[in-house]
Amino acid sequence: MPVTVIAGNTSVDLAKKLAKRLNADFVCADLRVFPDGESKITIAKKPKKGRVVVVSSTYPPVDSNLIQTLSLVSKAREFSDRVILIVPYVGYARQDREFLPGEIVTLSVIANLLKAAGASRVVVVDIHSKIGLRHFKVPVENVSAVPELAKYFKKLVLRDPLVVSPDFGGASRAEKFAKIYGTDFVVLKKHRDRKTGRVQIITPDLDDIKGRDLVLVDDMISTGSSIVKATEFLKKQKCGRVFVACTHALLINNAEKKMKKAGVFKIVSANTVPGSTSAVDVSGIIAKAI
Ligand code: R5P
Repeated sequence: MPVTVIAGNTSVDLAKKLAKRLNADFVCADLRVFPDGESKITIAKKPKKGRVVVVSSTYPPVDSNLIQTLSLVSKAREFSDRVILIVPYVGYARQDREFLPGEIVTLSVIANLLKAAGASRVVVVDIHSKIGLRHFKVPVENVSAVPELAKYFKKLVLRDPLVVSPDFGGASRAEKFAKIYGTDFVVLKKHRDRKTGRVQIITPDLDDIKGRDLVLVDDMISTGSSIVKATEFLKKQKCGRVFVACTHALLINNAEKKMKKAGVFKIVSANTVPGSTSAVDVSGIIAKAI
């Protein structure tokens, strides 16, 4: 059955790589933004009858990229009743539960919209928490870039490396990375004030990190605050170089500069969010999943 890959504007390079792996037709979308902020999206050509795969990451500006995703899915549905939607980075994934009374679980709203637009199946990469997957109303699969990130790090020369998770939520991710890399791991205790967003590391000093190169593993970097605080905490204890391996590097508000200033030596991320650090390609793991 012919397969067509439609690329959202946020994921052109990744979609091209995926189309190549699937031996599929590639269709890109043209985006015009009107002065009032509305998006006008046009696909370059009609997909052939068969399966359509839409690749559209919803990184910032999240709301407009989400509209683009929904629009592409609804257009794809005109040509196929089997629309597979790949959302490499899922915006709003951190809003997967009501942390404070009255908060809206926006991820659930989005999951409803994706179904209504016509997605028959969704594939996401390292969604913030598995809890988020429960909100989807069509079959959903979460694939992980962690093995690819670990393989990338295997090519680097690190001194007595130790893998570190900046918080409990990321413990299993760090454990997986450490297992593939072939080393041990530790988990820090992070506190984020739910009202102010202020981050603190509240772990007692660690034994055994003096002079060791560390790899902080996280699902995402937004403002970089979590990594800055973790790096400051680790550097105080005279560790070696601090590397960061994360799937989604949003790098908001000079995050990269702030992390480097705090002592981060190198940041490596996946191409779910293309940018200066996105050295790891996830088209292979997505192709396997579909
Ligand atoms: C939080 O639990 C996530 O895993 C990330 O650590 C966090 O969202 C990163 O945000 P920021 O870079 O703004 O600290």
